[in-house]
Amino acid sequence: MTSIELLADALAAHRAGERDQAADLAARAGRAGSSLAGELHTYLAGDGSASVYDQPGAFTAFIRGGGNVGLYRALSAALAARYDEAKPESLLDLGCGDGLAVVPALEQATHVPSRIDLVEPSAALLEGVHERVPSAQCWQSTAQEFLARDDLGWDFVQSTFALQSIEPDQRAEVLRTLQLRTGTLVLAEFDVPEYAEGSPEHLRSLVERYEQGVAEYGEDASLVAQGFLLPVLLGIVDGHERTNWEHPATDWVAQLETAGFTDVGVEPLADYWWSPAVLITAS
Ligand SMILES: C[S@@+](CC[C@H](N)C(=O)[O-])C[C@H]1O[C@@H](n2cnc3c(N)ncnc32)[C@H](O)[C@@H]1O
Repeated sequence: MTSIELLADALAAHRAGERDQAADLAARAGRAGSSLAGELHTYLAGDGSASVYDQPGAFTAFIRGGGNVGLYRALSAALAARYDEAKPESLLDLGCGDGLAVVPALEQATHVPSRIDLVEPSAALLEGVHERVPSAQCWQSTAQEFLARDDLGWDFVQSTFALQSIEPDQRAEVLRTLQLRTGTLVLAEFDVPEYAEGSPEHLRSLVERYEQGVAEYGEDASLVAQGFLLPVLLGIVDGHERTNWEHPATDWVAQLETAGFTDVGVEPLADYWWSPAVLITAS
């Protein structure tokens, strides 16, 4: 069996609750030459948890390395161009993380909105963002809690790879609220392929793509795999302790239209190991 087949079987075993069998299969795949397998074997020997954004050393190394360098460069440039074109007076970023997208976008733009709200639930990620954007109000909060506080509106709302962290029913409510209070909404997300969850094709595709992702990180590969990529991967595979819910771009469009947005468009942002990244614009 190839390392890909062995690892796909390891994920199937983990999904079925057979952690020891998953570890054995990962060890065999590791001997067949897979880096992802070695990382999975190590991860299964520990007590890894899914709090990927609360102790964010791995996440911040992840977004600053590999294919994320080009992806974030393209993202910040595209956002800066939108600010300059639309000249919004007010800007909201939901799930801004440590500011890797929004801070360079504001630095690159000629037009800077006079009111800026940056919302992020992880205190560890939000720390330090305010000093880089002193004119912004920073809120340590989920999108759901923040939008329930009052009925402020914004000319421009953005959320980059963050609405995927909100499970779809709650996200539908967030989108409905935003539709009433937003001029333009811009989402950055991945246009992921659709598979029957847990099917052999799905697991094999996850293995192939995550193998490529881990390979991009050189000496940071273990940090990034143990603290971010594997908890995310196993969350997708198992369905519990899930950290994100992603969709093909056509599903994001449908969710935005269901929320009441009438003018929704998708454009390519960058190629990426996981899936192509897209910008989705809704008004
Ligand atoms: C993949 S990171 C993206 C961070 C940042 N927007 C960027 O582009 O680098 C996902 C972010 O969503 C945040 N998040 C998780 N649940 C959230 C929620 N309910 N509301 C808002 N943000 C959330 C996480 O804390 C994390 O910062």
